[in-house]
This record gives sequence, structure tokens and C-alpha cells, in this order.
Amino acid sequence: MSPSLYEAIQEERAKYPPESRSAVLPALRLAQDEYGWLSPDVLREVADALELTPAYCHSIASFYNQFHLAPIGEHLVEVCTNVSCAVVGAQQVVEAFEEVGEALDLTPAYCKAVASFYDMFHLEPVGRHVVEICTNVSCALVGAQQVVETYEEELGIRPGETSEDGLMTLRTIECAGGCGTAVVVSVDGRYVEPVQPNDVPGIVEGVRSGD
Ligand code: FES
Repeated sequence: MSPSLYEAIQEERAKYPPESRSAVLPALRLAQDEYGWLSPDVLREVADALELTPAYCHSIASFYNQFHLAPIGEHLVEVCTNVSCAVVGAQQVVEAFEEVGEALDLTPAYCKAVASFYDMFHLEPVGRHVVEICTNVSCALVGAQQVVETYEEELGIRPGETSEDGLMTLRTIECAGGCGTAVVVSVDGRYVEPVQPNDVPGIVEGVRSGD
């Protein structure tokens, strides 16, 4: 048994009522943090430290899906698929990770790590049109915030949100590489520049009428 794990479990156990079963969840969490997953040997360590049976520890660990009873990857991607996430496309997110991973012989975790690093990838459903406003230094100095606020008024949404009709998603982005013609707005990847607040209603109308 790992002495440090045994001691950590005893320390945790002291915070709970005397019945050792009351500390089984934090003990399992400590064990998983140490070993990465809960193998039968690790469950036995937890059981010994709490004077419980391995079967009892297994029954608790198998009930909660935050415990891993099999080895997992270096990174763990968990997609919530419960009701609220399911109705806005959780299953499609799961399938997209599976598809990219299979095509390149990579793990979904690796694909998620790369996708989440770059601003240009959407990890949640977006509207039919994506409006992105650069709010980095050059654009900020010449009124990016006012442009953002005008979009918010026109669309009734805030950055990161999609209009109720699913037509437009509003986002703010880092430097778009058009500092000389700030403020830069990208509509579906096509730059409109420079943009001032009074240009916004016309740009929105153009997107609506072209849809
Ligand atoms: S800061 Fe906006 S384009 Fe560079």
C-alpha cells in the first residue's frame, strides 16, 4: 500500500463521522488522483485503509461516473449529454470528436486539446452566420467596444450567444490581422473593415437579407 495514500485517506477520514463508510467518496477520489484509475488493487488499498471490503468500495465507485474502473488517456474529455446539453447538440459534439480522431488515428482528447486552443473552432453549436469582432488593442483603441455594443443592441444577444432564431452568433476575437483598418469585423470568415458603430445596422441587414 502507498504510505502517502494511506495517510491522506486517514487525514480525510478524520473529517467525517466515525463510521468509515462516510469517507469512502473522498478516499476513492484521492486514490484516483494518485493512480489515475481504480484498479482492483487500488480498490483493495482503499478498502484496507477504511476497514471496508473491496466489494463495497467497488459498488460505490461503479455507481458514480466520475470514477474510472479502467485506465484512461493522458487527457480526459467529458461531454455532458444530459437534457440541457442534449437539446443543443451534445451528441453531434461527441460524434465530431469521434470522427476527427478516427480519421487521423488520434484520440478525441488530443483533438479537443487542439480545438480548444484556437479561437476559430466552435465547441458549441453556432448560428447559420457567425459575426466576430476583433477587440484587441488596435481595434479597441478606435472603438471596438462601441461596435460590440451596437451589435448587442441590434441582435439582442451578447458575445458568445446565438440569436433565438439561430441566425447569428456573436463573438469577440483576438487580433484578426487587420490592425491597419480597425475595427475589423468578420462575417462568416469574410472581413468587413473598418467598421464603425453606425455601419452595424447595415451589415446586420445585409446578412439577414442574404440568408
Ligand atoms: S487588433 Fe484588431 S485586427 Fe489587429
